Amino acid sequence: MIEIRELLIMPTTRRHFLQAGSATTMLAAAAPAQTPKGANDKINVACIGFGIMGQGDCLTVSTVPGAKLVAVSDIYEGRLTKAKEVYGKDTFTTRDYREVLARPDVDAVIVATPDHWHQIIACDAMKAGKDVYCQKPMVQKVEEGAAVIKAEKETKRILQVGSQRASSILYAKARDVIKQGSIGDVRMIEAYWDRNSALGAWQYSIPPDATPQTVDWDRFLGHAPKRPFEPIRLFRWRNYQDYGTGVAGDLYVHLFTGIHYVMDSNGPDRIMSTGGTYYWNDGRDVPDLMLGMFDYPDTKAHKAFHLSIRLNFEAGGGDGSGFRFIGTEGVLDLAVGGALVLKRKPKDSEPGHTAGTFSKATGAEIIREYQKKYPAQRASADGMRANTEQRWVLPPGYTEQYAHHENFINAIRTRKPVIEDATFGLRAAGPALLSNVSHFTRKTMHWDPEAMVVKA
Ligand SMILES: NC(=O)c1ccc[n+]([C@@H]2O[C@H](COP(=O)([O-])OP(=O)(O)OC[C@H]3O[C@@H](n4cnc5c(N)ncnc54)[C@H](O)[C@@H]3O)[C@@H](O)[C@H]2O)c1
Repeated sequence: MIEIRELLIMPTTRRHFLQAGSATTMLAAAAPAQTPKGANDKINVACIGFGIMGQGDCLTVSTVPGAKLVAVSDIYEGRLTKAKEVYGKDTFTTRDYREVLARPDVDAVIVATPDHWHQIIACDAMKAGKDVYCQKPMVQKVEEGAAVIKAEKETKRILQVGSQRASSILYAKARDVIKQGSIGDVRMIEAYWDRNSALGAWQYSIPPDATPQTVDWDRFLGHAPKRPFEPIRLFRWRNYQDYGTGVAGDLYVHLFTGIHYVMDSNGPDRIMSTGGTYYWNDGRDVPDLMLGMFDYPDTKAHKAFHLSIRLNFEAGGGDGSGFRFIGTEGVLDLAVGGALVLKRKPKDSEPGHTAGTFSKATGAEIIREYQKKYPAQRASADGMRANTEQRWVLPPGYTEQYAHHENFINAIRTRKPVIEDATFGLRAAGPALLSNVSHFTRKTMHWDPEAMVVKA
């Protein structure tokens, strides 16, 4: 018998009932937003790096009660104009992010620059007394991570890394399912991300008004190697190792965030990665296809397991992303922002037999013994019982993006920990960034996920 239950998981800000076909179950909703304390009711937010994600983050955070966007920094004039168009002409804008950090009216900053600026701006911001929402990957190089953790501790600032799925109620459900042992011991996880479009492969528009006058080129380059003005490197910075982190830093890191959260894991200790650039030969120096294998050691939270990741920008079959957690008792499929399916093999299923491969007499003997042992199953003595399935789906309108920003704004008010602090951020970024090292050096990398250091 197949039992299919459909549960609607509802937004964290409201309490909802979950519908399960004829059954109705209530899923524990996340705690409602904390009541703001005292004078700090309003949280003034600034954005540093007002591109695709910075704009998305600003739109989202502006919908969290009490949060307001007041200032924007970007090194390209067109994005500052855009900020005033969206948030009004009184919005403070500047090419120099330090002017934003110097403003006493700014409580928190979103750092949504290219990756090579994350560590520097996040640390500067915390030292200037600001709480920080830092986009993923938290750092461009593994060695930069310790400085962010140190600044977070020393300044006692809140730092939330922007891999929003850590706040998703769908991932929280998956975590519960696995913690309850519903699919047994997870020994293997498969994760993949396929893309089949130019935009998916980062071929973003290059605005015709980008000139040395409208772009602060040196400030974009920062500590990256000096080179003459070349707008493609700014607007498609992900394609270059000098500024980005390739498909691993950009997208593996989301998968690691999801896996580490669901499995309650600190990360793998062995990392092997390979890949190549085959389809998007547009001058990029990072792969457009990558495969990774990762060994997770035994910990108090989980038994040892193995992870394989596929990331493919040449996927002719279409777009898609998801996980399969393979346990000894079942399988849990988790799709990004979508449905979660749990299949369980009944624990008492009979083991089957190979009677037909022996002589008639021996086979008949095996069947007789089998039927004595499993009397209830005589009619289908060679079969497994039916699987069971459970399905959870996100409700229309739910976004983990909102939940993640709400978690950040609540933490600013309550000074309680965020869901994805700097340590979590480095543990998600570390294996992703070391995948690049493994790919480019053709070596297996060893990582200490507790201490967050590369081992010899
Ligand atoms: N969480 C997510 O789902 C998600 C999605 C997309 C991007 N991101 C992350 O967000 C970050 C930005 O990505 P994007 O797609 O928005 O890139 P983008 O190129 O669209 O935006 C980056 C912006 O930063 C500006 N910039 C560059 N150097 C700067 C500096 N020194 N000071 C101020 N501004 C500077 C650029 O002019 C640009 O407008 C990346 O780290 C990326 O990994 C996260």
